[in-house]
Amino acid sequence: MDIYILGIESSCDETSFSIVKNGVQEISTVISTQIDIHKEYGGVVPEIASRAHIKNITFVLEECLERANMKVEDIDAIAVTYGPGLIGSLLVGVECAKTLSFLYKKPLIPVHHIAGHIYANNLVKRLEFPLISLVISGGHTELIYMEKDYSFKKLGSTLDDAVGECYDKVAKVLDLEYPGGPKIDKLADRGKITYNLPIPLNDDTYNFSFSGLKSAVINLCHNEEQRGKTINKEDLAASFQDVVIKSLTKKTMHALKEYNVKNLILAGGVAANSGIRESFRKLCEENSINYTFPDIKYATDNAAMIASAGYYAYLDGRRADLTLNATSSDELK
Ligand code: KG4
Ligand code: ZN
Repeated sequence: MDIYILGIESSCDETSFSIVKNGVQEISTVISTQIDIHKEYGGVVPEIASRAHIKNITFVLEECLERANMKVEDIDAIAVTYGPGLIGSLLVGVECAKTLSFLYKKPLIPVHHIAGHIYANNLVKRLEFPLISLVISGGHTELIYMEKDYSFKKLGSTLDDAVGECYDKVAKVLDLEYPGGPKIDKLADRGKITYNLPIPLNDDTYNFSFSGLKSAVINLCHNEEQRGKTINKEDLAASFQDVVIKSLTKKTMHALKEYNVKNLILAGGVAANSGIRESFRKLCEENSINYTFPDIKYATDNAAMIASAGYYAYLDGRRADLTLNATSSDELK
């Protein structure tokens, strides 16, 4: 029997609904982004984000159903991101999911946001296990080991800033608009590696650190300014991205080797980065590792990934009731 999951995502500045069949087949997805509202402030303003979710949520739901030519009655279960993220934003999606679940008597499936990012890959190609997932987003930098569907073991994570956060802060120093990640990606593509930056936490653990790299870029910019020199933004972006890539690839390739795993997936907004994708593609091919990257449009936040993850959470028997609450807790279970 086919299972249709309605996914809901509202953890940050995207209001999104999606219907996915059997965890793999996308039927319809609508993403309403608030980037234009927040870029005026140089980042996401939580209170404004919650209000925008409230304003948009019913329209996005209606459009998603309309595009699928389906009604809520045709859905088998409702999967919603319950955390982590901005509490006010999460609550809008969670309350919507609970209301639909109550009104239409549909099972309610709680989905961790990072599980969603991982399952964005399942919409490209069915996940093969065991696998290692490098999660690189605005809020997370983690290496996750998965032996089977919906089983997550954290091998390591960032000790301070997330890699996406570092991209966005470096972009701010270079006067680039929020979100800076995609802009640095483009600049880096045209630049040369000329600036000397330290590779952070260059050790044998599976942990990462990006706050020192951010400070190194800020210091470099100030020093050059004091000497009356202008920064070559393209070259600085290329030099910065090179260090990020060295850190991410070293730890990930080490984990694949130590755990004798032959499948790698990238997850999270930063997985849209062309330099990072290209480096992993090369390394995986050289080392006979199977790799999957999320579709660029589903690397950043969306509900298709939540609906896909929701299907496997549903099969795993995970259910929530009307006491489900939003949480900012990180633990991926
Ligand atoms: O996964 P996501 O949409 O939200 C979180 O769960 O955090 O990730 C957003 C992050 C932002 O920091 C953004 O700058 C970064 O992903 N990002 C990129 C690229 N596209 C998005 N970073 C580097 N290169 C990109 N092409
Ligand atoms: Zn995300």
